[in-house]
Amino acid sequence: MEFRTIIEPFRIHSVEPLKMTTVEGRRAALRAAGFNLFGLHSDDVLIDLLTDSGTGAMSRDQWAGIQRGDESYAGSPSWFRFLESVQELFPFRHVIPTHQGRAAEKILFGVIGGAGKIVPNNTHFDTTRANVEATGAEAVDLVIAEGLDPSALHPFKGNMDLAALESLLRSRAADVPVVFVTVTNNSGGGQPVSLENLRGVRALCDQYATPLFLDACRFAENAWFIKEREPGNEDRSVREIVQEMAALAHGMTMSAKKDGLANIGGWLALDDDAIAEQCRNLLILTEGFPTYGGLAGRDLEAIAQGLREVVDHDYLRYRVRSTGYLGDALVAAGVPVVRPIGGHAVYIDARALLPHLDPLEYPGQSLAVALYETGGIRACEIGTVMFGKHPDGSEHAAPLDLVRLAIPRRTYTQSHIDYVIEVCIDVASRAAELPGYRIVEQPKTLRHFTARFEPVA
Ligand SMILES: Cc1ncc(COP(=O)(O)O)c(C=O)c1O
Repeated sequence: MEFRTIIEPFRIHSVEPLKMTTVEGRRAALRAAGFNLFGLHSDDVLIDLLTDSGTGAMSRDQWAGIQRGDESYAGSPSWFRFLESVQELFPFRHVIPTHQGRAAEKILFGVIGGAGKIVPNNTHFDTTRANVEATGAEAVDLVIAEGLDPSALHPFKGNMDLAALESLLRSRAADVPVVFVTVTNNSGGGQPVSLENLRGVRALCDQYATPLFLDACRFAENAWFIKEREPGNEDRSVREIVQEMAALAHGMTMSAKKDGLANIGGWLALDDDAIAEQCRNLLILTEGFPTYGGLAGRDLEAIAQGLREVVDHDYLRYRVRSTGYLGDALVAAGVPVVRPIGGHAVYIDARALLPHLDPLEYPGQSLAVALYETGGIRACEIGTVMFGKHPDGSEHAAPLDLVRLAIPRRTYTQSHIDYVIEVCIDVASRAAELPGYRIVEQPKTLRHFTARFEPVA
């Protein structure tokens, strides 16, 4: 049967109430939070699109796994089920469980980073960049030029610029401990990376004897795009495509809060025995024993089951199509968004929508605040607030000022998304009236989480 509507491939089993709020109440909440949406009480948020990380709904079988969780300190059966699930897709020799993705990054860069080193990536996610820089190393982003142009229609805008990578490796290979590729490229619009590009990166890594690691948070969505868009892959299973992505890499960091379909968890996996041993030693200091890392046995079970569900084609078709549904509606209404629409989120181009604001007046922050004030929707600025401040204390415009509407997995229905579309179109119609913001308080790093703002009169 071929009908146009792609339905959610599940029915609802338990429900969570949403609290309806008023514009006055939301204005008061914004003032109390210093106009930083991370500072809100989430009870005061109607539709929470701040992140797709750890916010998805678990399945019946994942909850059953939670009941089965075995909390033995060492060698729990839950650990072995987790290990089997991870290695079925990513057959690396060493799998090191962590409480989330950034813990894997901290451990890995703690071992292979350091002053004088340089780490290329298509685009570093904020915690990845921060963890590289915290060791004194430099993080460079080498995504293809189309990846920085919000309106360029390229099927794999997350691809690495191979010429730029080659030029870096030619001059600095000895200082490059690892080449990273983020799939999908979250900070660049949730755009996928092609298998062809991954093969090209791997060939350069081989030529310069440098390991290739995946930041694999959204590996299944990336593989679905490969299946849909990369010739020769249409008849392959997502599982097979993921296994090929893994075979091209020497290791990975992972946040199971995305395509692990779990609310917490992550891992570091790699083939190198010596580095793995050093990483495990750090793991014991900060996370826990190597068969649970930072996780309870029940979390390991939820991830083990989530990894089986996430490569299901009906799930991925619905997932990518439902994100596209929101994006297509905004495009049709003339709201500037990053195109093509990514896998986990729709990114509004706030710099294009609010051209009256300088990037240092934070157009993304302004738009995100307006979406909350107007309709109780919480989105996330991915722009100059997040990336504009540098380790030397200077501040520059980020390459893009985006507002990300991240869609939690299996959580909101089509009518929730229809409401989001209405609110976005209403705010966009008043874009010229939205104020700029200035920062009145900020920490040294990762300022977007805790900075306080005020509107510029
Ligand atoms: C591409 C990417 N890498 C790393 C991370 C960090 O993962 P976690 O939030 O689990 O620490 C994220 C989280 O959003 C991400 O999107």
